[in-house]
Amino acid sequence: MSSRMDNKSYVVQMNGNGVHSKGLNGTGVNGKSANGQSVNGKSLNGKGFHHVNVNGSLYPAKAKSRRHMWEVKPSEMANNTLNPIRAIVDGMKITPNPEKPMIALSIGDPTVFGNLPTDETVLQALKDSIDSQKYNGYAPSVGYLKSRQVVANFYSCPEAPLDAEDVILTSGCSQAIDLCISVLCNPGDNILVPCPGFSLYKTLAVSMGIEVKLYNLLPEKSWEVDLQHLESLIDERTSCLIVTNPSNPCGSVFTKEHLQQILKVASKHCLPILADEIYSDMVFPGCSCPSMASLSSSVPILSCGGLAKRWLVPGWRMGWILIHDRNDIFGPEIRQGLVKLSQRILGACSIVQGALEGIFNNTPPSFYNSTISFLKSNSEICFNELSTVPGLNPVMPSGAMYLMVGIDMDHFPEFKNDVDFTERLVIDQSVFCLPASAFEYPNFFRIVVTVPEEMMVEACVRIREFCQRYYRPRSCELDQ
Ligand SMILES: Cc1ncc(COP(=O)(O)O)c(C=O)c1O
Repeated sequence: MSSRMDNKSYVVQMNGNGVHSKGLNGTGVNGKSANGQSVNGKSLNGKGFHHVNVNGSLYPAKAKSRRHMWEVKPSEMANNTLNPIRAIVDGMKITPNPEKPMIALSIGDPTVFGNLPTDETVLQALKDSIDSQKYNGYAPSVGYLKSRQVVANFYSCPEAPLDAEDVILTSGCSQAIDLCISVLCNPGDNILVPCPGFSLYKTLAVSMGIEVKLYNLLPEKSWEVDLQHLESLIDERTSCLIVTNPSNPCGSVFTKEHLQQILKVASKHCLPILADEIYSDMVFPGCSCPSMASLSSSVPILSCGGLAKRWLVPGWRMGWILIHDRNDIFGPEIRQGLVKLSQRILGACSIVQGALEGIFNNTPPSFYNSTISFLKSNSEICFNELSTVPGLNPVMPSGAMYLMVGIDMDHFPEFKNDVDFTERLVIDQSVFCLPASAFEYPNFFRIVVTVPEEMMVEACVRIREFCQRYYRPRSCELDQ
């Protein structure tokens, strides 16, 4: 490190190694300048120089502003942060038919209709956490060690053991995904994302200058990965493979064999996996859903999850990263990188952290089972109804809370695409389904199956009426 006087400031050159870390205890990862001013990271101006004034504050090299006019613009990152669902939905004319009450089958929040309350034990755990007065303060950025241990115990299995140090608590699964992408990828790298897939991956990646390569899922094979296509996308800048299982938006659950095939590709190309397993264990009876980590000891895996879906409390914003690295490929660097990133904000709510032990230990199996049977029964109602509607091709899910429906657009010449189709469905029938263009998958729409049963039945009746009204035989069929 060198320094020289420059008016009232010192220029401090960092040697790039000024960041030291001590592991996952959430402390001691900051570099310190001579005067005690924290100077994390390599540089502020990208050249390894900082200006530090005599009082110790940091400011860019050109201290004097030459601006004479106001010019305040959103940053590139803000401009590059795009939520495709908002982009599509905000552009749609969603004016329901005033004669029919609106049925929204579009919202991935299981609490909106009040028919799926969380369990009493989950609420009690939160009340106890508040009453204890032990969780009103700041927790370590990676979460309380005790709470991390509770998560580790819950998800540990002989094939993929976990300890408290392998867990990072986050603000929802969304922050977990954010940290994982941030720690694995640099601008200019690319990540492999399922298509159709959850839109947040792209929103985050693009805002960080990371390219997104979409790999195809195959509806005719219950949304299994097109492995050949996946492999064809990998290049030297591919830094991570995202696998969502069970899937949003498809509701599909991969078999153990298929997960092994995906792992084989990752292993062959030395690609770490971000396994989005927020819907883990939300699978219909007869279906099993092993975690990816339980099937491979060689591929390093960051598994992201949370309370939102299985415990039906998305607003509590509790998520986690489970670090699986039995071959020590991530090593201390990736772990320390996650710790550093977690320090950008203190993510997970302390009170909910305090409730985790009660939630995991006391939730009765009957709660999980009744949620799953409800989701399965509603999926069957929806699938059976829509399977007999001309022009629609629903795909039966095996888990999660979603069902995708293909539209034979040839039979609906009045509509340009799935956005047009679903927009008119609202105008005519007051039923709102999310066009799958929002998941980069045109000519499908997604139905959320958490709505009350009578709403699901009524929605299907209206979708049928709508399709019957607009369905047209293909012109070639008319010729015959
Ligand atoms: C696949 C998937 N991952 C992550 C999330 C985000 O979860 P959270 O609400 O815990 O941030 C969702 C939410 O819908 C999701 O569907």
